[in-house]
Amino acid sequence: MPNNRTYSMVKPHAVADNHVGGILKMIEEGGFRIVALKKTQLTAAQAGKFYEVHAERPFYGELCQMMSEGPIVAMILEKENAVADFRALIGSTDPAEAAEGTVRKAYAKSKGENAVHGSDSDENAAIESAFFFSGLERY
Ligand code: PPS
Repeated sequence: MPNNRTYSMVKPHAVADNHVGGILKMIEEGGFRIVALKKTQLTAAQAGKFYEVHAERPFYGELCQMMSEGPIVAMILEKENAVADFRALIGSTDPAEAAEGTVRKAYAKSKGENAVHGSDSDENAAIESAFFFSGLERY
């Protein structure tokens, strides 16, 4: 996976509230190209696998439940410096700390229901992208 790509997903609460279009608009206007995109739903076990790095944290169960309660929109995004630039576009994990103009400022409700996920490193971007997409689904 080239290091100009990142993995993201629109979280279930934001999909349920019809914010996919608004979030994709912010992402495209932020200079990202959509390489792969699909709507799907995780089981609690799949969410547990995806977030297993957080298994010891007190919110792990709640996070896995939240991420499997409805469909998500998964995507691979491309831009120079993708991981860092995407985390800047989405803003802080905690919406109370998210800057004006960020995706989470606009659409997040709480630290868990924070509208979108964004990979935190090139290595995790590759792992997370492979979790959701085959090579044939990337354009
Ligand atoms: S970060 O960006 O990794 O430093 O953020 P972090 O605070 O470590 O959070 C990691 C993911 O856990 C989610 N989270 C929570 N879920 C439910 N309840 C609570 N209290 C909570 N706190 C954090 C947070 O949304 C992060 O998910 P992703 O998908 O990585 O954004």
